[in-house]
Amino acid sequence: MQTAVSALSGKNVVVIGGTSGIGLATAIAASQLGAKVWAAGRSAEHMDKARAAAKAAEANTVQFVQLDTHDEAGMKALFSSIGTIDHLVSAATGGTRTLKPFIEQTQEQFEAAFGKLWGYAKVARTGAPFVARDGSITFVSGAPARRFKPNMSALSAVGGAVENMVRSLAVELSPVRVNVVAPGIIDTALFDWMGAEKNDRVAAMTAGQLVRRIGRPEEVASALIYLMQNGYATGTTVDVDGGQLLS
Ligand SMILES: NC(=O)c1ccc[n+]([C@@H]2O[C@H](COP(=O)([O-])OP(=O)(O)OC[C@H]3O[C@@H](n4cnc5c(N)ncnc54)[C@H](OP(=O)(O)O)[C@@H]3O)[C@@H](O)[C@H]2O)c1
Repeated sequence: MQTAVSALSGKNVVVIGGTSGIGLATAIAASQLGAKVWAAGRSAEHMDKARAAAKAAEANTVQFVQLDTHDEAGMKALFSSIGTIDHLVSAATGGTRTLKPFIEQTQEQFEAAFGKLWGYAKVARTGAPFVARDGSITFVSGAPARRFKPNMSALSAVGGAVENMVRSLAVELSPVRVNVVAPGIIDTALFDWMGAEKNDRVAAMTAGQLVRRIGRPEEVASALIYLMQNGYATGTTVDVDGGQLLS
């Protein structure tokens, strides 16, 4: 009998936005499962911390690469140097996290949030020719794609667009599988701007959820790993959100 999942041993895995948070947790998990991993991000600061985290986790097959997801030539050079990519992930933020009442936000602020969609589109366009026919592409949307709250119109519009792009790419790029993970509120650098108030504010944000705590990046990474390993999953969205969609 065949197993339902494939091991990642010896596979080539690329994680754009792999130097912090969800992407870094995914890069580390893939390495621990035997993959050779390229993890990319822009800042040296994130990269230094990520290198230390990978070392501490004994994720010895992660190579960190300085790269902007909007730099298509840079991505093409990376992908060409790898040759065949088995699993291509982007968890890069790529755009502004615009949180504003709709009628107060400027068109520029609204458009800036779509940097995330354009970044993912560039990863898919540049990366697809390098992805193995039995490989996968996976992106990260977010609960606001289908859970609507005030001040989140930009996040909701972008998240919905990412999820729809994933479904259309799953059809067009078949047999390559294309999927998306939708996290809820996850403990990453995304909330560092809250400073000393972070714990209290996050507790308030998650109090009404079915799982009353912030999520861990590793919990989202396990969904990204599942979508790499399960050869029958395509065009699908995996929610890892503590039940936020039902709260
Ligand atoms: N944390 C949450 O609660 C939450 C909830 C819903 C959705 N999400 C989504 O999950 C994804 C990962 O976020 P996270 O929470 O893990 O945030 P994070 O800890 O800030 O990590 C973001 C990663 O993306 C990289 N990045 C950002 N812009 C980039 C660009 N233009 N080119 C290349 N790399 C770039 C960052 O490195 P550099 O800045 O150094 O480039 C970093 O490695 C994002 O798409 C986010 O919208 C997160």
